[in-house]
Amino acid sequence: MESIFRYFLLCSLLVITCSYAAQTSFRPKALILPVTKDASTLQYVARINQRTPLVPVALTVDLGGQFMWENCYTNYISTTYRPARCGSAQCSLAKSTSCSTDCPGRPAPGCNNNTCGLLPDNTVTRTATSGDLGSDVVTMQSTDGKNPGRVVSVPRFLFVCGSALDGLANGVMGMAGLGRTKISLPYQFSSAFSFPKIFAICLSASTNSPGVVFFGPGPYKFLLNADASTNLQYTPLLKNPVSTASAFTQGDASTEYFIGVKSIQVNEKDVPVNKTLLKINNQGFGGTKISTVNPYTVLHSSIYKAVIKAFSDSLSEVPRVATVAPFGLCFNSTFIGSTRLGAGVPSINLVLQNKDVVWRIFGANSMVQVSQDGLCLGVVDGGVDVMTSIVLGGYQIENNLLQFDLARSRLGFSSLLFGRQTTCGNFNFTLNA
Ligand SMILES: *[C@@H]1O[C@H](CO)[C@@H](O)[C@H](O)[C@H]1NC(C)=O
Ligand SMILES: *[C@@H]1O[C@H](CO)[C@@H](O)[C@H](O)[C@H]1NC(C)=O
Ligand SMILES: *[C@@H]1O[C@H](CO)[C@@H](O)[C@H](O)[C@H]1NC(C)=O
Ligand SMILES: *[C@@H]1O[C@H](CO)[C@@H](O)[C@H](O)[C@H]1NC(C)=O
Repeated sequence: MESIFRYFLLCSLLVITCSYAAQTSFRPKALILPVTKDASTLQYVARINQRTPLVPVALTVDLGGQFMWENCYTNYISTTYRPARCGSAQCSLAKSTSCSTDCPGRPAPGCNNNTCGLLPDNTVTRTATSGDLGSDVVTMQSTDGKNPGRVVSVPRFLFVCGSALDGLANGVMGMAGLGRTKISLPYQFSSAFSFPKIFAICLSASTNSPGVVFFGPGPYKFLLNADASTNLQYTPLLKNPVSTASAFTQGDASTEYFIGVKSIQVNEKDVPVNKTLLKINNQGFGGTKISTVNPYTVLHSSIYKAVIKAFSDSLSEVPRVATVAPFGLCFNSTFIGSTRLGAGVPSINLVLQNKDVVWRIFGANSMVQVSQDGLCLGVVDGGVDVMTSIVLGGYQIENNLLQFDLARSRLGFSSLLFGRQTTCGNFNFTLNA
């Protein structure tokens, strides 16, 4: 009796702690993470609550990134940080091949002896450093697919200490990797809560209304009640056998998500491109990947030239305006109508495993307004030395729901959600009462 009384007394003092304790039996079916587009860098930034006491840590979302990394060398205060000891299960899960034994001075996050290390990669500037693997508490909001629900926690969420913050959005402390490894965010959340290894991203084009990453299966409901997990088209996710990271160990595969584009069409007509460039070769060159760190699609020079020509030919009657970097084809938008799917221009079609599976890129995802009447095709010339021939960038995937099913190794894509009268900025983040 007395102990129960004490429990309630304690709870009224420590409401937060007790409500977490009471939730340990609650198993979420899915989690959500709001993602906001940063206006100056065009990066997609998420805030993850971590440490004890909890603090929000801003991280740039990296779809193909290997794991979560953050600067833990300054202002990292937490009673629950634990270094991963060399030879531990955590180090082998992370596929670490190094062990740090000589950190000078006092132990601190990022500086412990007998701790395994990895190579955190700033994929914006392509700068890799080395850093310790460690774990700490991370909390996330669960969801019923429609609203945020209870907060759940992962007590030993693995991440790596990194310091290469240059080039990341203001206030950002690292990157949140959603790539194909056993310690990326989707894998760790799926194993912590035993839900299927599925996640989805829906990036908002607006810097004011956040988009969302769903960890776990659908429904993924957006106002007004549109379930974006239905009516998806599916294409296999392909593995690139050679790492595309800035630094890696010989033999590592890429952790990024590749799809098999067989041909490109503009105005429903095939664009002549070198088909060899569309395949991934033994050295890891070629192919098509999806990236959230490239703000716009980057194409191998020869593909870029062919697409620009086809697009330009199909809009030959529209007056041009001076190009604005980084783009190479710009129109006077007063001569282009607008439609439900954005600027009224021909769609760019990515034909996938067969002619019935087509990713159509409409005006809202292809044309970028650069001035009052300047409207440019939002693709960039990557040169002839690019490793990956087609990098589908952030602008091209905004307001499209992309579902990555890691167990079945397939991508589900919704096409532009405007067609379903909703947007990725339309998730209802109001807590369910
Ligand atoms: C690591 O070990 C070295 C050599 O024993 C010692 O000088 C150093 O203080 C230790 N560092 C930490 C962080 O424990
Ligand atoms: C197509 O691309 C491959 C790979 O870069 C290159 O070796 C080949 O010469 C190209 N073919 C043509 C016809 O340009
Ligand atoms: C676009 O066309 C309109 C209408 O003809 C014209 O007034 C305007 O100056 C043009 N803009 C540019 C940048 O050429
Ligand atoms: C958003 O969700 C809250 C909580 O369920 C609900 O009360 C509210 O009506 C929803 N907003 C809209 C616009 O549907």
